Amino acid sequence: MQIKIRSGGHDYDGLSYLSDVPFVIIDLNNLRSITVDVQNETAWIQSGATIGEVYYNVAAKSRTLGFPAGVCPTVGVGGHFSGGGYGTLLRSYGLAADQVIDARIVNVDGKVLDKDSMGEDLFWAIRGGSGASFGVVLSWKVKLVPVPPTVTVFTIAKTLQQGATELVHKWQDLAYNLPKELFIRVIFDVVNANDNGDKTVQAAFNSIYLGSVENLVSLMNARFPELGLESKDCTEMSWVQSTLYFNGFPVNGPLEILLDRTQAKRFYKAKSDYVKVPIPTVGLEGIWKRLLEEDQPVVIFSPYGGKMSEISESATPFPHREGNLYKIQYLAYWEGLEETEKQLSWIRKLYRYMAPFVSKNPRQAYLNYRDVDIGQSKNGTATYLQGKVWGGKYFKNNYDSLVHVKTKVDPENFFRNEQSIPSVANA
Ligand code: FDA
Repeated sequence: MQIKIRSGGHDYDGLSYLSDVPFVIIDLNNLRSITVDVQNETAWIQSGATIGEVYYNVAAKSRTLGFPAGVCPTVGVGGHFSGGGYGTLLRSYGLAADQVIDARIVNVDGKVLDKDSMGEDLFWAIRGGSGASFGVVLSWKVKLVPVPPTVTVFTIAKTLQQGATELVHKWQDLAYNLPKELFIRVIFDVVNANDNGDKTVQAAFNSIYLGSVENLVSLMNARFPELGLESKDCTEMSWVQSTLYFNGFPVNGPLEILLDRTQAKRFYKAKSDYVKVPIPTVGLEGIWKRLLEEDQPVVIFSPYGGKMSEISESATPFPHREGNLYKIQYLAYWEGLEETEKQLSWIRKLYRYMAPFVSKNPRQAYLNYRDVDIGQSKNGTATYLQGKVWGGKYFKNNYDSLVHVKTKVDPENFFRNEQSIPSVANA
């Protein structure tokens, strides 16, 4: 039987709760205590907590501490931290996994180990290398990060008719080179162009700045005047309120909304890419053309640079560091099961179209945006070479080190799934 480990259940392709072989689920849903130590700026967080619960509990103790994890509050800590975990503080502080300073894991012998007893290489592997290949992570000790009492947010949306293409073209290497306190992502969707039912692509520049409106507006006027940012477009708020803002919740509403663990239920498929060289205008126009063929497409460009460029590719298994201008996430949403094939075919076609514009050899992908299209093995029984098909994309050269750790700590491949790290003990 396969052992499935589930914390928040947000795996994009359901590897924590689906398989075509018999399996049992170890569900950490109820293991979710969070202990915040303000004096030492650390927290112990159990894997079944959500990141919304983390933000809520940190904010309840301090207005000037935050944590650099994902945007959606219902995401579970177990999968998120063990796969990387990024959000709006990415350029200032890197990933959630970069802040982990201790952890407790149940290994294949049923022993509970901490950082010292699990050893450096296993501790390295679970911070971005997919915890589920190595054991059941029970809890994580993390460093919290300083945030100013007031941050500034804005969203400016431009359609193609309003010059979105030129702005996005400039944004590509600009956002990467901005001061690390400024994070501007771009979210693309399809909207009405006019009252006649014509459609257009809209690019929403969605941003947080760890500083005041005044400083932000002068920085933007110097570096990105084409966007035309003015003070009236900006709102100052606490960092925890910004977590509401990025989810479209009312920022003056109760923070308890971060504790709601209900996951939206809808059909979707996602994929990811990394961009190292700005995409030419003609390439961007090809994306717009494909988005306009679709009912509910969403594409998100998230800038890297800043702290992400300061961390070496092998510091953790997550290798997508310096030189990656931004990450792309493609998403297709749909309403009924009968539309599935059509939607999958659309997103795969878009992914094929993007090949010349994105990272190559390997074509990199983000583990937490799980995508079984890039390779999988039935029942997690891949060989080293089979596993490299997806492992090389998620982990680049760190794949070999992950195989080494796996072979040492779980030679019989007890912990496995369709994209797990193989053991080469019997090869
Ligand atoms: P789930 O429980 O499904 O686990 C995911 C994987 O981790 C599975 O392989 C599972 O076996 C393994 N695992 C889980 N708990 C484990 C444990 N305790 N020990 C060992 N292995 C364990 N990502 C991001 O970086 N930034 C973002 O802003 C978002 N936003 C976002 C929004 C929404 C709506 C979704 C659905 C997903 C995201 N993600 C994201 C992706 C998210 O980070 C990714 O899906 C995480 O793996 C989810 O972790 P869960 O614990 O919720 O998932």
